[in-house]
Amino acid sequence: MAVRTCLAIVLAAGEGTRMRSARPKVLHEVTGRSLLAHVLTAVAGIAPSAAAIVIGPGQDEVAAEAKRVLPGATCFVQSERRGTAHAVLAAKAAIEGGADDILIVYGDTPLLRPATLQQLRAPLAEGAAVAVLGFRPAAPSGYGRLVTRNGELMRIVEAADAGPEEKAIGLCNAGAMAFAGDSALAILERIGNRNRKNEFYLTDAVEIARGMNKTAVAVEVEEDDVRGINSKKELAEAEAVAQARLRQAALDAGVTLVAPETVFLSADTTFGKDVVVEPYVVFGPGVSVGDGTVIRAFSHLAGATIGKGASIGPFARLRPGTRLGEGVHVGNFVELKEAKMEAGAKANHLSYIGDAFVGAGANIGAGTITCNYDGFTKQRTEIGEQAFIGSNSALVAPVTIGAGAYVGSGSVITADVPADSLALGRGQQVVKEGWASRLRALKSMVKKKAHGRD
Ligand code: UD1
Ligand code: MG
Repeated sequence: MAVRTCLAIVLAAGEGTRMRSARPKVLHEVTGRSLLAHVLTAVAGIAPSAAAIVIGPGQDEVAAEAKRVLPGATCFVQSERRGTAHAVLAAKAAIEGGADDILIVYGDTPLLRPATLQQLRAPLAEGAAVAVLGFRPAAPSGYGRLVTRNGELMRIVEAADAGPEEKAIGLCNAGAMAFAGDSALAILERIGNRNRKNEFYLTDAVEIARGMNKTAVAVEVEEDDVRGINSKKELAEAEAVAQARLRQAALDAGVTLVAPETVFLSADTTFGKDVVVEPYVVFGPGVSVGDGTVIRAFSHLAGATIGKGASIGPFARLRPGTRLGEGVHVGNFVELKEAKMEAGAKANHLSYIGDAFVGAGANIGAGTITCNYDGFTKQRTEIGEQAFIGSNSALVAPVTIGAGAYVGSGSVITADVPADSLALGRGQQVVKEGWASRLRALKSMVKKKAHGRD
């Protein structure tokens, strides 16, 4: 059987009004990835022949995010937000381009999976003109209701327009629909805006298709695959579902999560074999953890590549641009940013290492700070392999510490230190022997005299 071609249209126009946010709704994030990126990743998973994304006027950030995730997609601008059917018709040129299936997905349903989208398309191959993804949410309130009779989908009633009987229907519109390419445009162009919100509802397509003697069907799936996000509460609920999925996947892949419910992952977090993650660790986007590494409690990581057998935390903060080689130790209250530490290097306590290179086996003493910022620009610190930086040193960048060199504790290093040398950048120590007992003798004599006068 020939593979059916598919045009995927993702609706992403609109502001963050109901989210009470200045940010466009679809750019809000779940597991460190925008809602739109989640949807587009699911769409990419079914390898559509073409993809169109409908954005609002001036939503350049949304267009940029779409291009980043799905470079082959074409963006169409919906000039005014006049409803989901109006939005689909903004991509009319793409529909006219022709495809066997037209798949329409809302940009605010981040939990969609490719398998769910394939399930939705399946009835089209059997002659249905419209297929709608349905689900039975625990709280159906704002969702459109699917009116079915004898297993057939009759129409969809939006919550705002539903009477009490329709509101009692448990089966709801998940916000993804598939149309047979040959009748899609004819159906879409008949949709009007006679409803309480004065909007062109995509959901009216069902009744219209039936009026044209075509079949519409509902494909029922689990709530957790299709939750729609219209508020911060729903965003948080989707986050919880997505976190549970990521934790389960990590456990299935053999990661030891001592207290899984306290660990927060990103959609792109990757783990090697035999990794242990202690409680209360947050993985922001862009973290990969090598085999046998232990991430100890209360650490926060983002944009970090960690090699094998490393030990991180407790209370470590790895910021973007951190790259750690095999066996690196990063201990408590150590912050790294744009920093590469090579195999076996250690920074065990209370340090800030930013815009830096730390060679293999180097030891960064407690309280070492790379002073990388002069108020205007960032400067680099280079620390050679096997170098030893004494505690409480300030390395004022740009500066290079040669291989095997020592920096004395408490130094402020402002000039390069050659390999194998010792640099001291602190006041010379002065010792006065017997000084303390002479002081005590003097002070007690003065005190006695004063009392004697009384
Ligand atoms: C919609 C459905 C509802 C369904 C729910 C599932 C309609 C009329 N209603 O309601 O039946 O239960 O989704 O989550 O379709 N958008 C545009 N342009 C517009 C309007 C919307 O691009 O003019 C985009 C939005 O960015 C969003 C998506 O379409 O990603 C859905 O719009 P939204 O306002 O969230 O619709 P719901 O009220 O959730
Ligand atoms: Mg919605």
